[in-house]
Amino acid sequence: MNDSKLWSGRFNQPTDAFVEAFTASVAFDQRLYHYDIQGSIAHARMLARQGIISERESKDIVTGLERILSRIESGGFAWSIVQEDVHMNIESALTAEIGAAGKKLHTGRSRNDQVATDIRLWLRDEIGELRQAILRLQQALLDLAEREADTIMPGFTHLQTAQPVTFGHHMMAWFEMLQRDRERLADCNKRVNTLPLGAAALAGTTYPIDRDYTAQLLGFERLAENSLDAVSDRDFAIEFTAAAALTMMHLSRMSEELIIWSSAQFAFIELSDSFCTGSSIMPQKKNPDVPELIRGKSGRIFGHLISLLTLMKGQPLAYNKDNQEDKEPLFDTVDNLKGSLRIFADMVPAISCRKDAMRAAALKGFATATDLADYLVRLGLPFRDAHEVVGRAVSLCVEKRCDLTQLSLEELQGFSNLIREDVFQVLTLEGSVAARNHRGATAPDQVRAAVKQGRERLTC
Ligand code: ARG
Repeated sequence: MNDSKLWSGRFNQPTDAFVEAFTASVAFDQRLYHYDIQGSIAHARMLARQGIISERESKDIVTGLERILSRIESGGFAWSIVQEDVHMNIESALTAEIGAAGKKLHTGRSRNDQVATDIRLWLRDEIGELRQAILRLQQALLDLAEREADTIMPGFTHLQTAQPVTFGHHMMAWFEMLQRDRERLADCNKRVNTLPLGAAALAGTTYPIDRDYTAQLLGFERLAENSLDAVSDRDFAIEFTAAAALTMMHLSRMSEELIIWSSAQFAFIELSDSFCTGSSIMPQKKNPDVPELIRGKSGRIFGHLISLLTLMKGQPLAYNKDNQEDKEPLFDTVDNLKGSLRIFADMVPAISCRKDAMRAAALKGFATATDLADYLVRLGLPFRDAHEVVGRAVSLCVEKRCDLTQLSLEELQGFSNLIREDVFQVLTLEGSVAARNHRGATAPDQVRAAVKQGRERLTC
């Protein structure tokens, strides 16, 4: 059975061997077997319920498909490129298994609506897993943020010291990025979770099918409303890849920070040995390979987004064989995103903060200059004038190679006679972060409140 093609009726010549290999997708789409069988079982049940095939035939189809499923899972199924793709491999095996009833499975269906259904079923599950993987990473970040809510580091703009922040606050920024990523996937899933089956090749079918029933069996939330669109739409895949690309972009930025922070020049953090590797020539090296690789992998996922957009842009309605090319970019996106999320979540709890180095860095670069300006504003100076006064004080420090806190009270008063002894309190790192004490800001208490609220947001 496996050596004759299901569509060979109108052909007189056999397929060229290289064409056969070139057009086959079974090497990669066999990954969809579980969903292909799930979709076929629902289709067969619907056909029987509508009296299009008999109950007996439907039962035989279902048991046959279940036997094939276990054979695939035990590794005892022989995939063949002669049968081109996952769909025809399974259908021809079914007929070999149960005889004539197997030939009725494809009634009122085409591979065009079948493949679209399979990918949606698969992607729906993968989106669920990816959302879980993001959630796990978010949980790790919440724990780390809580642990380091009081740890002070320099906050940067332009990678130049800007103002002191807490490490916990920085981790909560990552948390927010991932929260949006998780929401985006849930939103994308609304459109993924749509049933194409029933569109058949492109125009619908002449049999009295019940698409609502098939949708119900497969747990689809809605039906694709136009048969031409149902078989040709791949925006759901593009949208998913765009959401995945954004998540990878975030992971890449986070990786970049871990790489910088773990360098000898920053030395803010130490990554666990299990996430680093050594050098074959330089004995001292401990390289942050894991974050580097994640940063690198973002490239291929951005590429998949462009591949899918380009794949679709020139296609007239409805199905075209071009669409077979949607699978490898999608599979690769899911695999690499899932792997990156998993490893990131494992890596985060093992980050250790070198608090002294962070503190020393925060003390360099006049991180509390804005606090001094705000102090002067509280004493009645307009902000622009305060900015100017502090700028001059900083310039003196640069000349003297010292920090603002190292200027004497007299020196400071030389810039503004509003300045009093209590100015030194304002110039401390602790004073600076504690003063930013409102929702969304860096004060340790606010970070703890954000962590608490973050835990609640994870449940929705
Ligand atoms: N392997 C094909 C794909 O992935 C299945 C659909 C084939 N349909 C067709 N009319 N040739 O798109």
